[in-house]
Amino acid sequence: MEKTIAVLEGDGIGPEIMREGLNVLHAIEQKYGHRFELVHAPFGARAYFEHGHPFPELTKKACDEADTILKGPIGLAVSEMEKIPQEMRPEVAALLLLRKRYDTYANYRPVVLPKSCFDFSPLRPERLGNGLDILMMRELVGGIYFGKKVEGKDTGMQYASDDCTYTREQVDRFAHVCFKEARKRQSKLTNVHKKNVLATSRFWNARFREISKQYPDVKLEEMLVDDVACQLVKNPAQFNGVMAFENMQGDIITDLGGGILGSLGLMPSACLNPETGRGYFEPAHGSAPDIAGQNKANPYSMIGSVAFMLEKAFGLEEEAKAVWNALTEVFGQGYRTGELAGPSTPQDMILSTSQFGDKVVEVILK
Ligand code: IPM
Ligand code: MN
Repeated sequence: MEKTIAVLEGDGIGPEIMREGLNVLHAIEQKYGHRFELVHAPFGARAYFEHGHPFPELTKKACDEADTILKGPIGLAVSEMEKIPQEMRPEVAALLLLRKRYDTYANYRPVVLPKSCFDFSPLRPERLGNGLDILMMRELVGGIYFGKKVEGKDTGMQYASDDCTYTREQVDRFAHVCFKEARKRQSKLTNVHKKNVLATSRFWNARFREISKQYPDVKLEEMLVDDVACQLVKNPAQFNGVMAFENMQGDIITDLGGGILGSLGLMPSACLNPETGRGYFEPAHGSAPDIAGQNKANPYSMIGSVAFMLEKAFGLEEEAKAVWNALTEVFGQGYRTGELAGPSTPQDMILSTSQFGDKVVEVILK
């Protein structure tokens, strides 16, 4: 297979974890005889300082022309970010724009923790059942993130507002993806909402119930988002299957998912438009500027995002599985990245960013 990938390494730890993601991609090329042409392009806060825009025209062109997009985290230290005017902030002028440009409404954020990795989690092992296998699905291009905004400075600091809207089309297309994913995961779908307060949640729930009639084999449950937050900590395994969230609630609760895993470094993600096949793949965490350039960031989520790309953008299921299995095997051999190491982890089992990548490559090629 020959494909072109736009590579947006981003800021902070982006370049170093992307390097490992690409090393793993090269291993897959070598082993399975594919050819991936990489087109590197600037994106994020550094892109703003070097090119005047966090999502410059040349990057848009590279993304439009590529078959898919692999993206690292964005954002620099607070002191640098404060120099960027609001309308050029990379979160909005790059990331939200990227999501909107390719209408990537389906965001996949798996929260997976096998028994062999229970020591990663801050939760006691008896809280984790037989392991976690949750796919958190977050709607990514609607709701309060994209509603009309009134800034305080434009009302003489009298008020500010963010509108939250969901259309029937937006909810329905997302719900279909969630139900289909649930069929692959225990046929259980937990729909998360705040219907006691929000009209958008009542509407959202009504649409999910309506669409559930087309998926009689999938068990649909509903739970209030605040209850979900509590239950996820007390008994996360009850959610094994798929969870569906609107944009804002999903942003918050997926980080809780990362917390339960013990590190956001364990959260790869895919952002897709299943109709057009367009999308991009990124770690669900930030750019950790405090540890950037130190070769100690965990590249798991970047490498996992490569696995997602192989599967979801190129349909290379066997290759994707080889990457996921290699990631699990490296941990299975007892290796840990710094943030996952405990007092009982032997020093020689703690891997740097590049060492972790090398181990994954080694397992793939063996
Ligand atoms: C995420 C991030 C983004 C979001 C930020 C950087 C705008 O937190 O991908 O979860 O809120 O969606
Ligand atoms: Mn977030």
